[in-house]
Amino acid sequence: MTQLLVYSALDPEHILIDTRDAERIADELRTIGVGFERWNPGSSPSAEATNEEILDAYADDIERLKSERGYLTADVIHMRADNPAWPALRAKFLVEHTHDEDEVRFFVVGGGSFYLHVEDRVLQIAASAADLLSVPAHTKHWFDGGDAPHFTCIRVFSRPEGWVARYTGDAIASSFPTHLPS
Ligand SMILES: [Fe+2]
Repeated sequence: MTQLLVYSALDPEHILIDTRDAERIADELRTIGVGFERWNPGSSPSAEATNEEILDAYADDIERLKSERGYLTADVIHMRADNPAWPALRAKFLVEHTHDEDEVRFFVVGGGSFYLHVEDRVLQIAASAADLLSVPAHTKHWFDGGDAPHFTCIRVFSRPEGWVARYTGDAIASSFPTHLPS
């Protein structure tokens, strides 16, 4: 189940907000320009669905998002615990960075935590299946899928080449809890 934890950026032990209320999560995220929606598929994609079938199942929401926010393309990524690429990918995402374009992710299956560092707070959104998150360009953030990742995500881009990590050089991410599946 989706959870929002808001910490003091200076003290990860100091939790300011801890909620699983979807409306409250959306309200908190709206104040910092982060989009949060819950999507239902037009028709449920099966566990064996191809990427095209997954994109088809959510086509209405993807097209709406594209027309509202000017996004141009979408793709699907899968990550499972037995993927040998995960440790290296995890290390890359688990360091504070920004992008020149929005980071837009919809969890079709499974989940992961986005951590947003905004002024003196860190917001951890432990996302789960059916959650759409759009993190605005230039927001300091990191991501973790945990020790045993399990997620399938739709990624929506303005231009995929803009989704390059610019590391801030701040080691803040290492002070915060990693993602734990709910
Ligand atoms: Fe990122």
